[in-house]
Amino acid sequence: MVLPTLPVTLTFLTLLALLSIAKAADNNSTTSGLILLNCGESTQDDDDGGRSWDGDTGSIFAPSMKGDAAIALGQPPSLTPRVPYTTARIFTSNYTYSFPVSPGRMFLRLYFLSTAYEYYAVSDAVFGVTARNLVLLKDFNALQTAQAITSAYLVREFSVNVSSGSLDLTFAPSAHQYGSYAFVNGIEIVPTPDIFATPDIRFVSGDNTSPFTFDADMSLQTMYRLNVGGPAISPKGDSGFYRSWANDAPYILGGFGLTFWKNDNLTISYTSRVPNYTAPVDVYGTARSMGPTAQINLNYNLTWILPVDAGFFYLLRFHFCEIQHPITKVNQRVFFIYINNQTAAQQMDVIVLSGGIGRTLYTDYVIMSTGSGQVDMWIALHPDLSVKLVYFDAILNGLEVFKLQGYGVSNLAGHNPPIPQIPVDPSWLSSDARKPEGDMQAAISGTAGGFAFILIALFSTCVICRRKKAAKSSCKTDYGHRPTERKKSTCDIVHRFSFAEIQVATKDFDGALIIGRGGFGNVYIGDIDGGTKVAIKRCNQKSQQGFHEFQTEIEMLCNF
Ligand SMILES: *[C@@H]1O[C@H](CO)[C@@H](O)[C@H](O)[C@H]1NC(C)=O
Ligand SMILES: *[C@@H]1O[C@H](CO)[C@@H](O)[C@H](O)[C@H]1NC(C)=O
Ligand SMILES: *[C@@H]1O[C@H](CO)[C@@H](O)[C@H](O)[C@H]1NC(C)=O
Ligand SMILES: *[C@@H]1O[C@H](CO)[C@@H](O)[C@H](O)[C@H]1NC(C)=O
Ligand SMILES: *[C@@H]1O[C@H](CO)[C@@H](O)[C@H](O)[C@H]1NC(C)=O
Ligand SMILES: *[C@@H]1O[C@H](CO)[C@@H](O)[C@H](O)[C@H]1NC(C)=O
Ligand SMILES: *[C@@H]1O[C@H](CO)[C@@H](O)[C@H](O)[C@H]1NC(C)=O
Ligand SMILES: *[C@@H]1O[C@H](CO)[C@@H](O)[C@H](O)[C@H]1NC(C)=O
Repeated sequence: MVLPTLPVTLTFLTLLALLSIAKAADNNSTTSGLILLNCGESTQDDDDGGRSWDGDTGSIFAPSMKGDAAIALGQPPSLTPRVPYTTARIFTSNYTYSFPVSPGRMFLRLYFLSTAYEYYAVSDAVFGVTARNLVLLKDFNALQTAQAITSAYLVREFSVNVSSGSLDLTFAPSAHQYGSYAFVNGIEIVPTPDIFATPDIRFVSGDNTSPFTFDADMSLQTMYRLNVGGPAISPKGDSGFYRSWANDAPYILGGFGLTFWKNDNLTISYTSRVPNYTAPVDVYGTARSMGPTAQINLNYNLTWILPVDAGFFYLLRFHFCEIQHPITKVNQRVFFIYINNQTAAQQMDVIVLSGGIGRTLYTDYVIMSTGSGQVDMWIALHPDLSVKLVYFDAILNGLEVFKLQGYGVSNLAGHNPPIPQIPVDPSWLSSDARKPEGDMQAAISGTAGGFAFILIALFSTCVICRRKKAAKSSCKTDYGHRPTERKKSTCDIVHRFSFAEIQVATKDFDGALIIGRGGFGNVYIGDIDGGTKVAIKRCNQKSQQGFHEFQTEIEMLCNF
């Protein structure tokens, strides 16, 4: 009796073990990998890049599916990719997709085609999207956004670090519009390494920079990803993360600059600091410089203008690589980097920092975008004459701009873009009419945030002044001096705050209210005037005169 049973038991156990391994393998293939979900579709289909998308009907990611599968009505705009835009999933009440993922950082891309779907009016698509408690989109008006960017289809890309084993994505019709519905055409998840853990991020404020760090679980939204001086790069041509890189020409002020490619005999070499997934060879292998004429270069700034939402911090990643002989040596091409007319870097010498021609480099800066609504971010390069230069020139190969999650409030959503003055007929929203910058840029054209920036300095009392457009630096410098030495301010003085009021607003600089840190000090979130949310930046700096008293500058972000 005993002898025959044992092998049977063993076989049974082996079978169980094999089954559980199979299960684990199954589990791993979904948890570690790429997810491409074609919403409203029931079968598998390939996109133009040859990637295979699964339908969400009956998908394990869409438990007890409640949304309607709907097909885009009429003729989609001519160049609209068939997958994933042909079908959509429509939600008239809240619905949550649940994606099992390995904890860590990943790109989340949401695909939308603003058009009429069976039974659903195009103008009723107004909704929010959240990932657990992180707000990705809020009262997102698909039609209005499509009209503003003159593209019927758009992608929103986020980078999130998921700490649990699942990414839960909730689509919720807007509570502010009767009869509204939510929809989505495609959802993509691409796991990545910790691509934002750069040890050397500089916070740009005034003409000073200071070290800046952000939490490992910071969420970001991609605003721009430009292959400077080179052609658009499709997801297929990216180095592993299926990112879209757009050409930078539409953003160049005055259309200046000279674009060029690497020498044929030059190989782009990556480094341990700049691994090959940072950006594809085609980004580093093309560039824009100022031009061949020193006199012209000395008289202008090579400038890009990128509209963004005011009231958020932005991470700007500049990609550099010297790719042409004879620029191989130190002090040949040295330049300034300005962000919003503030000096982010001086004596920028790509050869020095990268280690030579063909070697890749990127530098990271964080800046807070001030003002209200949608504002222009200015990025400019100019030769730095403080060294003995060989060429009066500057170079840039790639540029990425990411919006950082609002501190303490788990929000990445801005407002909808302003309604265009001449309303666009939805049927007119064709790919032909789009701006030339490509999918991602169409996708990520900025939206408006309801914030304005206010700058105050703190001595015994604080003065809040509403900054006039051109008065930014004067505002700051003026109050950076001893009160008695204060120059005439160009600011409108709106309100005086006592130190005590600031203490109350920040609960005496309560550590729990810290929403950001930098070399300048901490940023706190607080309430003033009985409920106005403000971010208070407390700077601990010595004045230029070597004035050693405790001196703090506070920048306030007021939500009007
Ligand atoms: C699944 O992943 C875990 C760690 O993530 C690993 O230890 C295990 O070997 C994997 N299993 C298979 C079958 O690949
Ligand atoms: C993956 O494995 C974990 C534990 O082994 C299990 O709890 C989870 O349900 C599995 N997920 C899927 C999608 O099978
Ligand atoms: C739907 O989701 C939104 C946002 O997450 C939430 O505010 C609302 O209360 C939810 N509605 C229902 C009926 O659960
Ligand atoms: C994700 O966040 C955790 C902390 O919450 C951190 O330890 C981890 O390194 C982060 N991972 C990535 C890939 O950013
Ligand atoms: C990056 O380098 C690794 C080896 O270090 C290689 O396996 C991978 O294919 C490379 N990726 C690209 C996009 O070149
Ligand atoms: C590469 O080609 C350029 C001209 O096209 C030349 O000046 C340079 O010396 C070459 N470099 C090498 C390493 O052959
Ligand atoms: C930068 O300076 C230019 C010219 O002085 C001005 O037009 C522009 O608005 C400024 N940009 C920002 C972001 O302040
Ligand atoms: C370039 O930009 C900086 C910062 O805004 C400014 O100070 C400088 O005057 C500009 N130079 C030229 C030539 O426009």
